[in-house]
Amino acid sequence: MSNQLCIVLDFGGQYNQLIARRVRECGVYCEIKRFDTPISEIRAMNPTAIIFTGGPNSVYDPSSPHISEEIFSIGVPILGICYGCQLMAYTLGGKVESCEKSEYGKIEITQGSDSLIFRDVPEKSVVWMSHTDFVSRLPEGFNVTAKSADCPCATFEAPDRKLYAVQFHPEVTHSEYGKQILHNFLYNVCGCTGDWVMDDFIENTVKKLREQIGDKKVILGLSGGVDSSVAAGLLSRAVGKQLTCVFVDQGLMRKDEGDFVEETFTKLFDMNFVRVNCKDRFLAALKGVSDPEQKRRIIGTEFYNVFWDKIREQGTDGFFAQGTIYPDRIESGRGNQAGHGSTAVIKTHHNMVKMPDDIKFAGTIEPLGDLFKDEVRAVGEKLGIPHDLVWRQPFPGPGLGVRIIGEITEEKIKILQEADAVFRDEIRKSGIESELKQFFAVLPDVRTVGVMGDHRTYDHLIAIRAVTTDDFMTADWARIPYDVLARVSNRLCNEVEHVNRVVYDITSKPPGTVEWE
Ligand code: XMP
Repeated sequence: MSNQLCIVLDFGGQYNQLIARRVRECGVYCEIKRFDTPISEIRAMNPTAIIFTGGPNSVYDPSSPHISEEIFSIGVPILGICYGCQLMAYTLGGKVESCEKSEYGKIEITQGSDSLIFRDVPEKSVVWMSHTDFVSRLPEGFNVTAKSADCPCATFEAPDRKLYAVQFHPEVTHSEYGKQILHNFLYNVCGCTGDWVMDDFIENTVKKLREQIGDKKVILGLSGGVDSSVAAGLLSRAVGKQLTCVFVDQGLMRKDEGDFVEETFTKLFDMNFVRVNCKDRFLAALKGVSDPEQKRRIIGTEFYNVFWDKIREQGTDGFFAQGTIYPDRIESGRGNQAGHGSTAVIKTHHNMVKMPDDIKFAGTIEPLGDLFKDEVRAVGEKLGIPHDLVWRQPFPGPGLGVRIIGEITEEKIKILQEADAVFRDEIRKSGIESELKQFFAVLPDVRTVGVMGDHRTYDHLIAIRAVTTDDFMTADWARIPYDVLARVSNRLCNEVEHVNRVVYDITSKPPGTVEWE
């Protein structure tokens, strides 16, 4: 049984994935497609709804992304957002001009219509605007349904053709009733029924996986991260012991993390679990190396060799599975052939380990390939994967290797693991964990003088890092309360051997990065 589909046509805006996520949150399955996807392909996908995204261009710029007028007559309701709204007006014969006064930020709109998209939305509400062009004349057959002080056509529509346009961004939370407006479009205009539900996803996926895999074997590289863990849980439910998970423990995980992953997947799930402990091999390869890039290369190469050797040993006659998720697969509408930059790039992902040429599987399986991260987490919870794994923070592939500055030694790993565990424990107890996107300890390989009892000490400095961020492209240092910092500092110096000083990193990104390396 396939779900109703909403297609988000990507014109290069920055919130495109957010639009798709909001649509999914409304219970409607949604895919992002480039704006230049052939109309025949769009028709063949049989969508129930189409949304045009925003974008950075002006519609009257000849190199901006356009779409054939044919899209408006295929009989599928369309909602145009920001640039998408202007494009709809322009393509159908309206006029778009540069604003005398750009609107940016929270703006009040007034609507006084009985538009289907404004059901349960008050007459006045705040929306998020970000535009320097505006629709100055509507195409024939359209009428205005809302205005702002500076924008006479904040929303407009041709209900008989099921075409709707909003100049603002309903997908961002600053638009008070944005989600309601999207919901109204999907349900009241398009007739969506809300058939995208995670329970059904699990049931359907398990069924599909069983059909696809048959009696063959499946191998999955399990890192202990959210995506590969949830993929493992799904595959285990589908084929049990036909699944083998290979978990490479290079000794650079957080305290007890390797054991926790092993215990989870051997006790709670039916599968073959192969743990490769290779700390010594990694340490030997890293001996004497302090350059961060070289350390990364060594850890990457060692991982590649150990992992694929183990896979060869297990046999490659079945399928290879990976925890790729939807954002890893989306082809961006930015940098398109319409001339603003390079050709489209599909994001590569650290979960996708390049396969050596000599290894050939019957096929590759990506059971989470259609899901956003929050959906992956929801599936993980439903599968009974422990909270700590489902809500695990991002953790670099090279693990603590990027948090130990300079040469990596067994002693330094131990100090950092202990320090990190204490810091995490205090944050958890303080009740502020959910406010922080990532927090961890760093061992900068600096020794300083201290005093303990009557003795002079010369020991390690620990730096602690905690950030808030939406997307990790930029980040701010978290304002952890002083009393929490005081407890952390106290415990680190008292409980972790070889630590005599603690500093808190108050650098934002940019100019800093999240990790120290
Ligand atoms: P930076 O240090 O670049 O980090 O500001 C941004 C985010 O990426 C994570 N990170 C990595 N994740 N493999 C990963 O899977 C890596 O090699 C890697 N390096 C950094 C980092 O923890 C932060 O969340």
